[in-house]
Amino acid sequence: MSIGAREFDFVRELVRRESAIVLEAGKEYLVESRLLPLARATGQTDVTAYVAEVARARNPRTLTAIVEALTTNETSWFRDNDPFVALRTAVLPALAKTRTRKSLRIWCAACSTGQEPYSVAMTVLDSPLLADFDVTIVATDLSEEVLAKGRAGEYSQLEVNRGLPASLLVRHFTREGLNWRISPQLRSRVEFKQLNLLRPYTLMGKFDIVFMRNVLIYFDQATKQDILRRVRQVTAPDGYLFLGAAEMTRGLDDSWEREPAGRSALYRIREEDRSCVPW
Ligand SMILES: C[S@@+](CC[C@H](N)C(=O)[O-])C[C@H]1O[C@@H](n2cnc3c(N)ncnc32)[C@H](O)[C@@H]1O
Repeated sequence: MSIGAREFDFVRELVRRESAIVLEAGKEYLVESRLLPLARATGQTDVTAYVAEVARARNPRTLTAIVEALTTNETSWFRDNDPFVALRTAVLPALAKTRTRKSLRIWCAACSTGQEPYSVAMTVLDSPLLADFDVTIVATDLSEEVLAKGRAGEYSQLEVNRGLPASLLVRHFTREGLNWRISPQLRSRVEFKQLNLLRPYTLMGKFDIVFMRNVLIYFDQATKQDILRRVRQVTAPDGYLFLGAAEMTRGLDDSWEREPAGRSALYRIREEDRSCVPW
């Protein structure tokens, strides 16, 4: 039995309000399958009845659990590879030259279970030009559940098989039962924090590099525009933004300019808009 229309609308509005994720009509099956485990945990087998009860009680914890259940946390090590090649061969060398204060701040927004910020951390560790740099990597996500996994730094064989080169597995992980645990050295390089991209970023400080990949695709135009504008305000005037392969700034925020980087692309603040960025 499919979820009732009223209950679907309740979930859709809740998720939109709390995360900006758009659940279009036709996503009933997704809501149904993601909420079934939550319903079962309360002894229910019927998602419609479960949501009707949640809508009546409005328990904040349950509402948060529903929003988290509807995030898509798909990720992998060195996802799409090319952005990490650009990071290693172009972005880090350029910043190593210009940052005389020898410190760098990198933000992985919507980091999911940690594969992306740890891939960034491994790339930084392998960059001899940054040997004497103080590099901060802040990794944020809406979902406390994925952040807890990132903080734990423990991954299954299946997870490490997705994009992690064997040489890096051997170097940075140890076997723990059936799983692999990230080394304390790499673990300490990444600071995980909860942050909803709808909320202000100003307390986060400023960044030289922002990874915000494969999250804008879930939002509507107005939300994408607002987020891209606010990301500009926390990015160094000569900083770098990485988006997912299916994402772009064109038509959303033309103060960002696409710059080809090898087989991928990154985004920079347009020259003429750089002086307007508070830094
Ligand atoms: C598909 S994953 C992308 C992970 C990683 N950036 C990558 O490209 O592999 C999308 C992530 O965005 C997070 N997310 C969704 N809405 C968000 C919001 N409003 N604020 C912060 N994170 C959000 C989800 O929890 C999920 O972990």
